[in-house]
Amino acid sequence: MQATVLFNELLTPSHPEKDVYHIGLETEVPLGYLPGDWLMVSAENSPEMVAMVLEKLDLSGNELIELRRFGEMPVKEALHYHLELTQLNPAILNKLKRQYDLNDWADRAEMMAYAEGRDILDLLEAYPFLKGVDVCNLLTPLAPRYYSIASAPKAVGENRVDLVYRKVFFERENRARKGVVTTALSELEAGDQIDVALSKNRNFKLPIALEESMAQHAPVIMVGSGTGVAPFIGFLQEWFLDEKLAKNHQAWLFFGETHEEKSHLFKDMMAQWKAAGLQLRTAFSRDQAHKVYVQDRLWEERSAIWALLQQGAFFYLCGDKTRLKTSVEEIMLSILQTEGGMTEEAAEALWHDWKKQRRVQLDVY
Ligand SMILES: Cc1cc2nc3c(=O)[nH]c(=O)nc-3n(C[C@H](O)[C@H](O)[C@H](O)COP(=O)(O)OP(=O)(O)OC[C@H]3O[C@@H](n4cnc5c(N)ncnc54)[C@H](O)[C@@H]3O)c2cc1C
Ligand SMILES: NC(=O)c1ccc[n+]([C@@H]2O[C@H](COP(=O)([O-])OP(=O)(O)OC[C@H]3O[C@@H](n4cnc5c(N)ncnc54)[C@H](OP(=O)(O)O)[C@@H]3O)[C@@H](O)[C@H]2O)c1
Repeated sequence: MQATVLFNELLTPSHPEKDVYHIGLETEVPLGYLPGDWLMVSAENSPEMVAMVLEKLDLSGNELIELRRFGEMPVKEALHYHLELTQLNPAILNKLKRQYDLNDWADRAEMMAYAEGRDILDLLEAYPFLKGVDVCNLLTPLAPRYYSIASAPKAVGENRVDLVYRKVFFERENRARKGVVTTALSELEAGDQIDVALSKNRNFKLPIALEESMAQHAPVIMVGSGTGVAPFIGFLQEWFLDEKLAKNHQAWLFFGETHEEKSHLFKDMMAQWKAAGLQLRTAFSRDQAHKVYVQDRLWEERSAIWALLQQGAFFYLCGDKTRLKTSVEEIMLSILQTEGGMTEEAAEALWHDWKKQRRVQLDVY
């Protein structure tokens, strides 16, 4: 579906290492989403990246290639629209290992470590014998990128959908690396069009959106770091539209970023929700000598968290799937043990049950 850009605002103008944007899109027909769903944004490689890859492969771009789903086309077109260039999938290394009898990676873990932060150009530079169209047959299909929707249709209108994204940009081996979709998104202006599709996520929903009627009136605890705050913008828009719900039930948001001054995303909006009853706790990791993270705030509030959980609170976590997820789950298990008097095994079993019942919901990436 085509969507028209309404606005594309840089939320962190004075923070050059961290470009986080808020983009608003309008669709011609309602997308039919709920807060917690994802939007998929189509990817197209940049002409510069395609030209650099063609040069490394000793190709003009007019050579023909047969792609399984799309048929025959010039290799230039395949690289531009259909093949992943900015990510190095470990599956490619596996194919290379078998095809060329390479012994450079002992197992999948070593392949994943090698692929991390590298792209196809890095691979072609490291293995200069990789030349010609056949190499392109090793590449993976160019996939759309997922973004947590950061709006509620009830609040912004059925035809509008917002996202919060961090532009991927970093230097490695003297070459600037640019995320394919986030770079393209960051260049959009009001009136431009992009190709998007909805992806429903039934595992990240407010209690009021769940089928089980018993759950509808529960407090909510939301934990998000960086762009992980995105779905909670949609949740809170919906929450504070329902005056009765907001008055009778607690909503807690634990938000983490690097600096209060430079990266407090949605500061004004959060202040308004706080005035309307939101329990807001922030953790700015780099504003003091030692790191302070959202899990430190959860620990400080452990007795309130335990009381909320006893009232049937729903717990949500969004953001980094490695560091943040591990740390927050560890602290929650500690809270269940210290405040709830459980053994480690009992706490783990309860957390596991709550995940199955969707009282604990994660959107981590
Ligand atoms: C379910 C889900 C929800 C998501 N929601 C959001 C969201 O709400 N907002 C959001 O911004 N993103 C979100 N993402 C991530 C998003 O889908 C993209 O992966 C991300 O925006 C990068 O896409 P890109 O095309 O710009 O970068 P790509 O072209 O895919 O390049 C990314 C590559 O660069 C590497 N990389 C990135 N940064 C660095 C770095 N600093 N150092 C080394 N390597 C690096 C990555 O490992 C990756 O291989 C979500 C992902 C999932 C799976
Ligand atoms: N190499 C990569 O592929 C790469 C790099 C960056 C982000 N990402 C992805 O992009 C997503 C969003 O990134 P983002 O820049 O918006 O946010 P982010 O990288 O998740 O950072 C947001 C906040 O989380 C803090 N943080 C770091 N470690 C933590 C931990 N163990 N527990 C809790 N908080 C922790 C950071 O602190 P400090 O930074 O001060 O420690 C920062 O204040 C992440 O979820 C991640 O998956 C990928």
